[in-house]
Amino acid sequence: MLKILVCVSGGGTNLQAIIDAVENKQITNTEIVGVISNNANAYALERAKNHNIKAVCVSPKDYADRSLFNDALLETVDSFAPDLVVLAGFLVAIPEKMVQKYPYKIINIHPSLIPSFCGVGYYGLKVHEKALERGVKITGATVHFVDEGTDTGLIIMQKAVSVEDGDTPKELQQRVMEQAEWVILPRVIDLIANDKVNVLDGKVVIMK
Ligand code: GRF
Repeated sequence: MLKILVCVSGGGTNLQAIIDAVENKQITNTEIVGVISNNANAYALERAKNHNIKAVCVSPKDYADRSLFNDALLETVDSFAPDLVVLAGFLVAIPEKMVQKYPYKIINIHPSLIPSFCGVGYYGLKVHEKALERGVKITGATVHFVDEGTDTGLIIMQKAVSVEDGDTPKELQQRVMEQAEWVILPRVIDLIANDKVNVLDGKVVIMK
């Protein structure tokens, strides 16, 4: 049974997609052992509580400096003893020592086709604003392993989404979430839970 810990910062629609997929068995062999948010007001915390999932807040505002926050975050993650940490709209830079402690055990969903529109400063609506500014016709979402960089870890799965004429950033974000994020994140979790994701020669291979 894969124990997953989901880290959130906002509305939690990706968390909800994971919860629903576990409940309807699209994700098998998996237990959501907890949810951590850096934002006490995140609706994602409500979503967790509505499904009796232990939810805690570790807020940078409660610590004198970033190093103390990082220590508290890692301590809280460790307390759940997860097999996999899922960053689902989590707007916190993962401390290097956490990446090192959980090698290939932290995954992230990013709302673009990496390596486009990613890296420092590219998160949430901004990603879609930049994609529309550039005039791309196809965008999408990426699930990747988290390494010491920002959106630089090995790509696990991607799903393309069409940009429609006249799209606003909000409309594009919603389509990317509905058609890509909420599809590939649960899918990757199920594949990991069933040992179908391997790394060979520096690339991710999904076993059939
Ligand atoms: C969304 O923009 C999503 O693309 C990104 O984080 C934002 C909020 O996601 N991953 P959620 O509704 O909190 O899951």
